[in-house]
Amino acid sequence: MEHFIDIKDHSKDEIQQILDAAMRVIENPRGYSEAAKGKILATLFFEPSTRTRLSFESAMLSLGGSVLGFSESASSSAAKGESLADTIKTVACYADLIAMRHPKEGAALLAAGVAEVPVINAGDGGHAHPTQTLTDLLTIQREKGRLDNLTVGLCGDLKFGRTVHSLVEALSHHSGIRIVAISPQELRVPEYLKSGVIAKHHMPFLETDQMEDALATVDVLYMTRVQRERFFNEEDYVRLKDRFILDTAKMRLMEEDAIVLHPLPRVNEISVKVDADPRAAYFRQVKNGKYVRMALIMKLLELAG
Ligand code: NCD
Repeated sequence: MEHFIDIKDHSKDEIQQILDAAMRVIENPRGYSEAAKGKILATLFFEPSTRTRLSFESAMLSLGGSVLGFSESASSSAAKGESLADTIKTVACYADLIAMRHPKEGAALLAAGVAEVPVINAGDGGHAHPTQTLTDLLTIQREKGRLDNLTVGLCGDLKFGRTVHSLVEALSHHSGIRIVAISPQELRVPEYLKSGVIAKHHMPFLETDQMEDALATVDVLYMTRVQRERFFNEEDYVRLKDRFILDTAKMRLMEEDAIVLHPLPRVNEISVKVDADPRAAYFRQVKNGKYVRMALIMKLLELAG
């Protein structure tokens, strides 16, 4: 039985196979409408979500399967003091597959250790968010036609932003990836990624707080929200939240064929006026999230994809 907890547990080939399966779904969505018939997905969200939970549910329904679950821990027995392990063991009796989000780093790994069905990490605290990375990779591949030889600008909260952490892990498999990390000093890429991934794979890496200078150099600009819920005090959040805002003036500094991604939700960091720019790919990215999750569900349930 296989789980999907951390992108670094999966090889470049394995990830590519999921992206290829997602492309087959895109080409012929009707062909998969009964692929997971009779199967049940549980979505256990101990932390807020719109896209991730609904895209998992939409993915399973589009495969002909069913879904159950909860969208806040207050409505689960966690509120009565039940341990995560007991909740997972229970849900595994009702479902064939579990997708879970939890505020604690390592929660999905713990769940995988006790579950008798496959577990998918839909975000564990500030640590990782591997299915967002599948979404990001499929979007880059579809928009840019490649996953190598790219300068990728990461902008915003690179410290607490779990999507950034998983994306950097995945990009390290590819050649010719240059990372330009645009963030305030306090929200820089964590040391474990710098030494354990970026330096280890000899990825060219530049850290800056000069957004304007960086924009002309990137093929992909990955914007992120400052992760308010992971801050220790509100003052720091307020001081840092609007530090980097992408607006139409800044878009003029970017190449014609560059793209802008954002895992969403957006707060202030991208002006809504940018949405009309064809390079703004973040709502197309949302759509890709459903297809990669359909592909992942089929893989973990060992269904023909
Ligand atoms: C992200 C997350 O939950 O980490 N959202 C998402 O799943 N698309 C990004 C965020 O919350 O800022």
